[in-house]
Amino acid sequence: SSAAVIQTGDTEPLNRQVKLGFSQLGSESDWRLANTKSIEEAAKEAGIELLFKNAEQSQEKQFEAVRSFIKEGVDVIAIAPVVETGWEPILREVQEAGIPLLILDRKMELTDQSLYVSFIGSDFYEEGRMAGRFLLDKMRDQPGEIRIAELRGTEGASPSIDRGTGFRDAIKERAELTIYASEPADFTQERGKEVMRSFLQSYGDEIDVLFAHNDDMALGAIEAVEEHGLRPGKDIIIISVDGTRQAFEMMVEGKINAVVECNPMLGPNVMQAVLELMEGRTLPKRIITPERIYTEVTAEREVANRKY
Ligand code: AHR
Repeated sequence: SSAAVIQTGDTEPLNRQVKLGFSQLGSESDWRLANTKSIEEAAKEAGIELLFKNAEQSQEKQFEAVRSFIKEGVDVIAIAPVVETGWEPILREVQEAGIPLLILDRKMELTDQSLYVSFIGSDFYEEGRMAGRFLLDKMRDQPGEIRIAELRGTEGASPSIDRGTGFRDAIKERAELTIYASEPADFTQERGKEVMRSFLQSYGDEIDVLFAHNDDMALGAIEAVEEHGLRPGKDIIIISVDGTRQAFEMMVEGKINAVVECNPMLGPNVMQAVLELMEGRTLPKRIITPERIYTEVTAEREVANRKY
């Protein structure tokens, strides 16, 4: 394969393939599958050897993967962390091994910021705010209480925490917007359907709005809403996050009202960061992926452009 030959500062060029160990948190959603594919393709393109491990939602498995990368003597380690907390001990092991660490996609809660070189990913708080601002605008002429059901992602994961906070901060502008029901549904379509079904059984027609922390849960919820005899996008306003092709198709059909984009295509940014690290360059501590919101009004124009 086309090994990347790296010039490291004023030292000799590194005449071997650069090795990147990547601990992916799981394969729960279409977003995650697109993210994994983007990283695999970009590594190939850059001539970087990728050691890939899927932790299937287990932080413990992520620790094991990281330890195996240290043993293997990789040049760089990247982690997409399943939850926010509990990372400092393993990161210290990485630091002691002298391996630079990249955090991908989700945030880690750390007191010692020297434990990683860069965090590459989206601003989940801003995504939540965009969702909330859309809702304020959408409901501006509707009087009275507006009841919102929320399908949260994985408990303790930064997208769940920050999307929830950003959304609440945006809607508090209007007291009539209330979070009526809120449960985690693990970012999966299956759980999204189950939890939405239970919301409908408990509250039925009282729910006006659904805010789903990702598209997979929204797609599951749409099935539950239809089975309950209601019209998604009309009887219940639906907002979700990610921007997958399937969600766009639902938006074109009028079953989802708005989708906040969360871009999974982090591969090229990651490989660039790896190569720059190997050249001895300093990276920015935070690399934010630019994204926007799409609504039922713009969905038709955009659906064909979706890559994931
Ligand atoms: O961390 C990003 C989130 O994780 C995506 O929004 C969701 O689909 C995925 O599972």
